[in-house]
Amino acid sequence: MTTSQPGDVIVATDSAEAANLAAEILGRAVHEAVQERGVARLALSGGNTPAPAYRVLAGLDLAWDKVRWFWVDERVGALDSDRNNARAALEALGEVTERGVVHRMRGDADDPAAAAADYEALLRAEFGVAGAVAFDALVLGIGDDGHTASLFPGTGAAHIEDRLVASIPAQPDKKLEARITLTAPVLREARLALVMAVGPGKRKPVADARAGGDIDAVPARLLGEQRNRLVWVIDRAAAG
Ligand code: 6PG
Repeated sequence: MTTSQPGDVIVATDSAEAANLAAEILGRAVHEAVQERGVARLALSGGNTPAPAYRVLAGLDLAWDKVRWFWVDERVGALDSDRNNARAALEALGEVTERGVVHRMRGDADDPAAAAADYEALLRAEFGVAGAVAFDALVLGIGDDGHTASLFPGTGAAHIEDRLVASIPAQPDKKLEARITLTAPVLREARLALVMAVGPGKRKPVADARAGGDIDAVPARLLGEQRNRLVWVIDRAAAG
């Protein structure tokens, strides 16, 4: 894998080990955040890859009452839709989230742009207006097209810098519903950005992302601008 991107790459034997390794790293981040600041703020991605890691994470002995749950992105639609990222994550995590605080993006809002602005206001209130919005950990994935969060290639979304949260129009030709997503300024500031990718379909996007180049073509390349810790947890199939 030719890389120009910083960050650790952990290659697991298979997807199950990737889930265990990711959960262990996230658990450590939660523990450290609570020890140092009395609270842990996580922002989760949807998709298929992270759910097994969420299930393992939920089995750890952590100060769940000190955890605040946020989302990296959300699909616009009913909150109980099987496409909804928060529904899937909350189902995988189970009752530990009930001991903390859950802040879902309102994908069911009639006006996604207003819902994005509301989520940004929530983040500003949570992190302080002037301060950087620095999550203790982000769980990110990478699409086969090289997107991360809901920052899709060829849309310019990876270059949005004037907002913390953006609404992304639907892309009917790609069968993609409208989205609400954190933007690069937030992804960049996280204390830990943990990117999960498993399976042979991720081999090319992971290699493209870590090779550097035009960010709008492969938005996951923006992870190369990470200010703090970047960890890729991939399996052998995705490592190539
Ligand atoms: C989403 C996710 C998205 C995801 C990638 C990878 O809403 O789809 O947040 O960014 O991480 O699409 O998805 P898989 O893990 O299903 O491959």
